[in-house]
This record gives sequence, C-alpha cells and structure tokens, in this order.
Amino acid sequence: MSREIAEIRNELRSWTLVNPVETCVGYRSPSNIALLKYWGKRPYQMPVNPSLSFCLTKAITETRLSARFQTGFQGLSELNGDPEHPFLKKIKPFWEFLCHEIPLLQHTDLSINTHNSFPHGAGIASSASGFSALALAVLDLAQILSRRHLAQDEFLKYASYLARMGSGSASRSIYPAFNLWGASPDFAGSSDLFSIDVNDRIHPAFRNLQDAILLVSSREKSLSSTHGHALMQTHPFAEGRIQQARQHLQHLQQALPAGDWELLATVAEAEALSLHALIMSSSGGTILLEPASIELIQRIRHARTQGLQVFFTIDAGPNIHLIYPEIVRNEVNAFVRNNLQDICPENQVIFDSCGPGPEKLRDLP
Ligand code: DP6
Repeated sequence: MSREIAEIRNELRSWTLVNPVETCVGYRSPSNIALLKYWGKRPYQMPVNPSLSFCLTKAITETRLSARFQTGFQGLSELNGDPEHPFLKKIKPFWEFLCHEIPLLQHTDLSINTHNSFPHGAGIASSASGFSALALAVLDLAQILSRRHLAQDEFLKYASYLARMGSGSASRSIYPAFNLWGASPDFAGSSDLFSIDVNDRIHPAFRNLQDAILLVSSREKSLSSTHGHALMQTHPFAEGRIQQARQHLQHLQQALPAGDWELLATVAEAEALSLHALIMSSSGGTILLEPASIELIQRIRHARTQGLQVFFTIDAGPNIHLIYPEIVRNEVNAFVRNNLQDICPENQVIFDSCGPGPEKLRDLP
C-alpha cells in the first residue's frame, strides 16, 4: 500500500547529502493530450475538476541534470549551457519549490540540459513533457545523492506531485498511456495532488489511439493556459463547467472500458468545444480557433457520419488533434491526405500515437 504524499514528503525532507559526487541523471517524458480537460485551478495548483489524458509517443522532452559540488554554491545556474537562458526564469520558482520539498538539493550546483523532439509552436504542450522529465530526474538525483530509495509506486506518485507544481498537465505525463488527475469518488486513490494510472480501465481497442495533429497555426498563442485557468476564477459559467466535467467523467467511465467509440467521440468533442466556449466567454473574449480549425472540425464530423472512426480534440490553441484507433490507420491517412491537409495553412500534420510514458535515459556521460 503506497503511503500518503505527506508521509513520503516527510521522508524526503529527512534525506541528507551522503554521496556528494558529480552525478548525471536523465529522463525522457512525453507530452499528453487530454480527452477530459483541466481548465481552472485553485491555489497550490489544485484542479477544479478531474482531467484524463493519454501520453504521446513522439512528442517528448529529454532532460539531463548534472550535479556538481566543487564550484562554490550556485544552485540552478545553467540551462543548455546558457546562464541567461529565457526559460531559467520559468524554472527558477519550480526549483525553489523542489529545494523546499527535498532540502538536500539546496547544497547542489545544478545545470540542466533539455531538448524537445517537437518544434516550439507545433501546438504541443512542452510544459507537460518538460516539467514531467525534470521532476522525475530531480527525484532520481535525490535518491542517488542520499543513497535512499522510494518504492517504485511511491517514486511515480511523488514525481507526479512534483511535476504538477511546474505545470498541472505535467502530472499526467508520468504513467504509461492513460493518466487521471483530480479527485473523483469513482476512482479509488485519485487525488488533486497527483495523477493515477487508469490503464486497467481502458478497452484494448483504445490502448493504441492515434493522434494526427493538424497544424493550423504555429504562431505564439494569444492566451497562455495559465492565464486561461486564472480567468475561470471569475467565470460566470464556472459552476456549470465543473458539473459538466464530472458528468463527462462518468460517461468516459462507461465508454473507455467498453470500447464505445461513439460515446468517447461525443464526450471528447464536447470537452474540446466547451474549453473554447469557456475561453471565448471569459473576460477579454479571446478566440483561439481560426476559420481553418472550424473547417477541419466540420470535415472530421462529416467523416464520422460516413462511418470513419475519427473524432477531434483541441487544446488551448487553434490546432486540431484528430484521434482514431490504430486499425483504421490506412483509411485515416488517406482521409488526412485527401481531405484535411490542404486546409492546414502550412500543409503540416504531425502523426503521433498513445505511448509508453516516461523512460530513464541510460546514455549519460
Ligand atoms: C487546455 O497544464 O498548461 O491543455 O498548470 O498553468 O501550467 P498550468 O496549465 P497547463 O494547462 C493545460 C490546459 C489544457 C487542457 C489539459 O491539458 O487538460
């Protein structure tokens, strides 16, 4: 039986630096795509509703950490060899949180080397893969430096808890494939603090879902997710949204184990459209969808009425994720080539699929 977060946390706070040698650790973590959306949070990065996603395969971040002890204490000093790297500012508050959770890190000089497999602006959330890889690597580093170890289930639970504080969706890039984040009475062990592995509730036909990302625009988003979440605090439809998400989770609980494609498609598309309806009806009235996004949605829906097993989902941007089971891959490839690709302004489609989750890197110096 895995211990509660508070107990694991107490243990980590007692770990000391018994092995202060130059150490390198690395993790590869995937991005994920949510079928049930996290939109709105409470203090301490707690979600207002549960969310459910699957990890991707090709959209990954690889992060390597090097810890040194001879340089005179500098803390977190470099990202990709650059002490002035713009992302350092984003990571520094997270690093302070990590040092608070795992005090032995306070005595470590750390440099981070990190790379995404996908280009910036590809419509794939790099914060999910990035913070997941960083949380896993830091926790692993702490184990090596203290010569202490958590049981594997507790390691993953705590990594998800840490990753969540960097970016909420990063908490769902910890287990293979399907991760659920947020407390729900129907999922034993679920929590607002970390994600859980829900793969035992997924029909075999859904375990290898494909995701073709139809790129409508690679421009910088006009609304960051973090700002969008904040707008939900005063949103006139906030209560209704929370009710809707709970109801959608109940529908997913039926659809996912049963392999019910129609129900899954209906819920996932309703989630994506709700997300955008909430964004449009937030203060500021931001519209993230582009005319091409709408055209793609209509063509995907039309193809489903013709019997093709496809549906769409969308994150907080204009790009459309086309989801389908592996068995119809050939038909969908033809559909994308003949009916969808020409609508994508840059003709770009990234083919990805449900993946095995994070992996420890072995090729370290
Ligand atoms: C629309 O996890 O990026 O992709 O916690 O502020 O970093 P922060 O937000 P983030 O929000 C993701 C929102 C979403 C839906 C989802 O992935 O569930």
